Amino acid sequence: MIERLKELGDEALQEIKEANTIKALEDVRVKYLGKKGPITEVLRGMGKLSAEERPKVGQKANDVREHIQEKLDEKSAELEKKALEEKLQAESVDVTLPGKEIKRGARHPLTAVVEEIEDIFIGLGFQVTEGPEVETDYYNFEALNLPQEHPARDMQDSFYVTTDMLLRTQTSPVQARTMEKHEGKGPVKIVCPGKVYRRDDDDATHSHQFLQIEGLYVDHNIRMSDLKGILEAFVQKYFGVDRSIRLRPSFFPFTEPSVEVDVSCGICEGEGCRICKHTGWIEVLGAGMVHPRVLEMSGFDPEEYSGFAFGMGVERFAMLKYGIDDIRHFYTNDIRFLDQFKRA
Ligand code: DAH
Repeated sequence: MIERLKELGDEALQEIKEANTIKALEDVRVKYLGKKGPITEVLRGMGKLSAEERPKVGQKANDVREHIQEKLDEKSAELEKKALEEKLQAESVDVTLPGKEIKRGARHPLTAVVEEIEDIFIGLGFQVTEGPEVETDYYNFEALNLPQEHPARDMQDSFYVTTDMLLRTQTSPVQARTMEKHEGKGPVKIVCPGKVYRRDDDDATHSHQFLQIEGLYVDHNIRMSDLKGILEAFVQKYFGVDRSIRLRPSFFPFTEPSVEVDVSCGICEGEGCRICKHTGWIEVLGAGMVHPRVLEMSGFDPEEYSGFAFGMGVERFAMLKYGIDDIRHFYTNDIRFLDQFKRA
């Protein structure tokens, strides 16, 4: 029996040596040390032994077991170490490789221009306000001195939602809404950016949906010269200090007098070129002194208060600054177009 145990021990050691994976090693352990293993088998036959032999066989069996266990532990530690080394090797990172390029988005050019214009007016003491895009006929027209059947309504073909609700055709209704909230007390000094809608056919310079920024300044003693000063400061901040403005008489129902504002052409510096249609000037916005009727309808006393207002198209300002020749580029979102504004 002693001989058999020795053989088993040798066999086990050989198999441990050959086991190359943790799984194979575990199989060896189960095979030799498990409940159904050959050593247990040998011990079962001990009953037939003499009292003298029994302790010797028992002792040998324990020795063999312990030895096998020891070798198993050693080998297991060795295999684990090897596995860890292989894992580290496989997962090692070459820090000298170039990194993957991460595609970064950017603000849409129109968002950037709106924010830039807002910032300029904030610097001039204006507050930024917004109003609804689905507007009532009252605020979009009536409160701006455009009663039903007024011919000037035709200047802005509209999308009606119901008989007295429409997609606003201009940001001017925010003027009336804001003045109402002030309950007849100035100053009101706001700019209002937002989307507007007109029933126009889209082409290089027209879009059925575009952006405007409205401005309104109502207080005691506001004069036309204030309007001119603010607009000149704005234009020079936006386009550059070398640019100037001029005012031409115009008509808007909500202002009296009304003006069209031109900025000197930055391409030819007044010489005349294709961009300014050989006039040296580019029309950029509409403005004027708030009509007394408009002040009155929104709760301001025109004897006590006066104000100026202006409205501009954001796309036009963006196109002029960045030399964009088609308004549709802003809305078709060609990534090659948008990518150019990453740093703008
Ligand atoms: N609402 C006008 C338009 O869409 C632009 C405008 C002109 C706004 C004169 C004003 C203004 O506030 O005073 O054509």
